[in-house]
Amino acid sequence: MNINRKFVNVSAGVPGPIGKKLTDLRNQYVPNGVGNNTPVFVEKANGSIVEDVDGNKYLDFAGAIGSLNVGHTPDHVVQAIKSQADQLIHSCFHVVMYKPYIDLAKKLVEITPGDFPKKTILLNSGAEAVENAVKIARKYTGRAGIVSFTRGFHGRTLLGMSLTSKVKPYKYKMGPFAPATYKGQFPYLSNRPAELTEDEYINFCISQFKDFLLTEVSPEEIAAVIMEPVQGEGGFIVPPKKFVKEIFNLCKSYGILFIADEIQTGFGRTGELFASTYFEIEPDLITMSKSLAAGVPISAVTGRTNIMDAASPGELGGTYGGSPLGCVAALEVIDKIQSEKLWIKARGIGEKIKLFFNNLKKDYPIITDIRGLGAMVGIEFNDPTTSQPAKEFVGALTKKCCENGVIILSAGVHSNVLRFLTPLIISDEELDEGLDIIKYSIQQVVGQLVTEVK
Ligand SMILES: Cc1ncc(COP(=O)(O)O)c(C=O)c1O
Repeated sequence: MNINRKFVNVSAGVPGPIGKKLTDLRNQYVPNGVGNNTPVFVEKANGSIVEDVDGNKYLDFAGAIGSLNVGHTPDHVVQAIKSQADQLIHSCFHVVMYKPYIDLAKKLVEITPGDFPKKTILLNSGAEAVENAVKIARKYTGRAGIVSFTRGFHGRTLLGMSLTSKVKPYKYKMGPFAPATYKGQFPYLSNRPAELTEDEYINFCISQFKDFLLTEVSPEEIAAVIMEPVQGEGGFIVPPKKFVKEIFNLCKSYGILFIADEIQTGFGRTGELFASTYFEIEPDLITMSKSLAAGVPISAVTGRTNIMDAASPGELGGTYGGSPLGCVAALEVIDKIQSEKLWIKARGIGEKIKLFFNNLKKDYPIITDIRGLGAMVGIEFNDPTTSQPAKEFVGALTKKCCENGVIILSAGVHSNVLRFLTPLIISDEELDEGLDIIKYSIQQVVGQLVTEVK
């Protein structure tokens, strides 16, 4: 197959000569703990295309782990950042205030689910948004307990790690972890015991959570439940709507706050502007980051006014929280998502990817589950004879995809899920070319494994 297609060209080799030199320097000066999913050094990027330092061109199906719903370097965002940089880069909102912070706070209040008074605090990263949502919830309720879920991911800070449940690589030998953090069981429909129907399994998960409130932590001690509406790092696992609504209602009945961690699911990814809308819930607090500002570091917590106001002046914030550059970028991003209704485009992208893999599945029984919401699609791979997670296969596949010109990541506690986080502005032609390259890469990896077995 000619791998030099219309959009992709990897003729310099991956990595090419300049990339190899930079990798040597990276190994000399950057610690091991900073993981790299690909050997690629990017020079520039636009839309869904990444160009590396050797001139190779890739289709980007990872989108900086879901940060690029509007694609790389969209014109209006770039212009807004440039003109903001001419005016003001930083004054620290605590010292001298600026209008873009207020504009973005207001915009997030307007577009997040829940037709009630809300306020917004702006921060730097996803983990920092999670930390602040927890601080606010504790302050408001006067309770300490925070419940997250198995396979959840909430960041790499001490609290983020404590709420996260994939041990390697996120927590291993990094403890002890924050006290008063607990894990409820998250449903995993496609892995349910064979003897249970879907409905029986969902009811079982709900009763399991009720038992958890008897056996692990009492509801009066819980400040908040934090949930990813669709689990990201955990393997693109979509919980049943009934489960989410039940947990949400249980929280309400016990005065427990519900925090929706929409850091990966937000801004159109799941076929709604926010996934909470799909699940028909209006969270007390929502954490946002990633696709909020097309890659400029910024995050936010938006929530009910009475809850957000529980902390006193000085208890929340930070030097760089809600930087002017991030604010203006985010305002442009939101405008683009709304004017182009990108959440609707996300549904079409997801359907196309699912259909493609449903067709492929007939020839490749190693593909065992195709799931997702909107354009947040995960393809699970398990050994068809042993049913064991095909971690090595997916590792080899993501590597091969990259060599063939598609940047794509894995997910899941067993790292056996291929996850699609393509920009939502991707064209049909680009998506088709990328899917075709993935298919070719699967053929190559299967061929390679057959040769190895022989
Ligand atoms: C659901 C969720 N929460 C929190 C985080 C942490 O965000 P950050 O890496 O910006 O700290 C992530 C990042 O992947 C995430 O997906």
